Amino acid sequence: MEIVLSSSLNSSDMSLFDVIGSRRSVRSFTDEPVSDEELVKILDAARLAPSGGNQQRWKFVCVKNPRVLRMVKNCSPGFYGEATACIVAGIEGDAPAFSGTEYGSLVGVLDIGFAAENILLAAHALGLGGCAIASFNSSCVKKVVNAPENFRPTLIISLGHPDRQPPAPKKKSLSDVAYLDEWGNAWEKQESVPNE
Ligand SMILES: Cc1cc2nc3c(=O)[nH]c(=O)nc-3n(C[C@H](O)[C@H](O)[C@H](O)COP(=O)(O)O)c2cc1C
Repeated sequence: MEIVLSSSLNSSDMSLFDVIGSRRSVRSFTDEPVSDEELVKILDAARLAPSGGNQQRWKFVCVKNPRVLRMVKNCSPGFYGEATACIVAGIEGDAPAFSGTEYGSLVGVLDIGFAAENILLAAHALGLGGCAIASFNSSCVKKVVNAPENFRPTLIISLGHPDRQPPAPKKKSLSDVAYLDEWGNAWEKQESVPNE
């Protein structure tokens, strides 16, 4: 049975595990633009992500105007490649219940992390690529996209058509990162996605 997530999210030929296993950070793009249909699917994937207390205090500024894109790049030393679009993802205002607390700002950062992974997986499932970018000057980006004072840009996600498949970065094995039942008790089962 096919599970329909939303009217604009189609099932792809790749299973979720194929998408997770073959996604790479892409930093090199062709000049083919990302279509509005693709951007809608990617933004839907972002807004459907989990958020702490379901507060959804996020805003996603989708930049596709080449002049604005260039200015965002100029604020972002960690932005590599000529992406044809990007999403500035951040949190608007304080969570009323946790206003000004460390927990309040932590939840916002986590929310954007969840949304960003959805964006990257959705882009990859569509045959696109992108990269999460944390290295940028926040006030510069805010000015470029004309965001209000209470908006905190947290990640930029570059997007475009990959011009090559990046090599697989080295990932730690399950036995390096997972324990069974208690700290230090080695997890000995093999990975289901082979390490390249
Ligand atoms: C929170 C976060 C911030 C990142 N910031 C940058 C960045 O500023 N510039 C960049 O090129 N890559 C950035 N990356 C991408 C990582 O370098 C990349 O995910 C890592 O090397 C693993 O490669 P993979 O995504 O292909 O698995 C960031 C990733 C995360 C999760």
